[in-house]
Amino acid sequence: MFSGEAAVYDRFVGRYGPSLARAFIDAAGIAADTRVLDVGCGTGQLTRALAEKLGGANVSAVDTSEPFIEACRRRVPDADVRVARAEALPFEDDSFDAVLSQLVVNFIPDVPKGMAEMRRVTRGGGTVAGCVWDYKGEMTMLRTFWDAATALDPDGAAPVVEGRIMPYAQPEDLEKLWRETGFEDVSVVPLVAEASYEDFDDLWAPFPTGVGPAGRYAASLGTEAQTALHDEFLRRLGEPQGPFNLSARAWCAMGRVA
Ligand SMILES: C[S@@+](CC[C@H](N)C(=O)[O-])C[C@H]1O[C@@H](n2cnc3c(N)ncnc32)[C@H](O)[C@@H]1O
Repeated sequence: MFSGEAAVYDRFVGRYGPSLARAFIDAAGIAADTRVLDVGCGTGQLTRALAEKLGGANVSAVDTSEPFIEACRRRVPDADVRVARAEALPFEDDSFDAVLSQLVVNFIPDVPKGMAEMRRVTRGGGTVAGCVWDYKGEMTMLRTFWDAATALDPDGAAPVVEGRIMPYAQPEDLEKLWRETGFEDVSVVPLVAEASYEDFDDLWAPFPTGVGPAGRYAASLGTEAQTALHDEFLRRLGEPQGPFNLSARAWCAMGRVA
């Protein structure tokens, strides 16, 4: 569902990537001179922020999407960027001081295996951190989209609303996952990211292409229903005329390898 064009992803949630990455790196306490792996790197927003802080030679990144990996390599040419699954990381035990995973755990098919792999490749005392959108709360763009969709189409939209279908959308879900994986000193903190839009159509443009769960729903609608959704989404955002910003909260879970 995220395997489309990298440029479309970057106009969609990727627009929040740089500011989310900065907040995530700070929250995870990533210091200079550490070696870090980015799992589910996508088009490389977090990978680039890590390379700016640590130098590309200290950063590795994996994702299952070949187009995204190509975009990540273009963005961060000096990092070690590979096509690989979180559930089968191509690294030796204890290879990294920290493993970060931005907006990924809800999309990994075998989450316990992916988490166990992130733990395996992190040295003792190192950190594994992951963040997910606050789908039910303050991820303004996605929450407002789904509020508009369920108001217009309760039967069609309700079963696919991300706040309901994502297994890890609340701090307690993440805390449980991190504890069950065996991490110590587990904590969950909020992160706040921001994106700028030229106007509402700049925000809307990626949705009909089918990117992500929200785009897939928008693309499944006929022309009339899609126009109604566009108009209701616009109305619920306060009918911005011209440029505007939106903020988005994510939950960040962290734990230490014993
Ligand atoms: C919402 S995107 C997040 C991308 C990037 N981390 C960011 O912050 O923009 C989810 C990413 O997880 C990747 N993904 C899905 N399943 C995966 C798996 N099993 N192993 C590694 N990456 C996976 C997708 O290809 C996609 O790039």
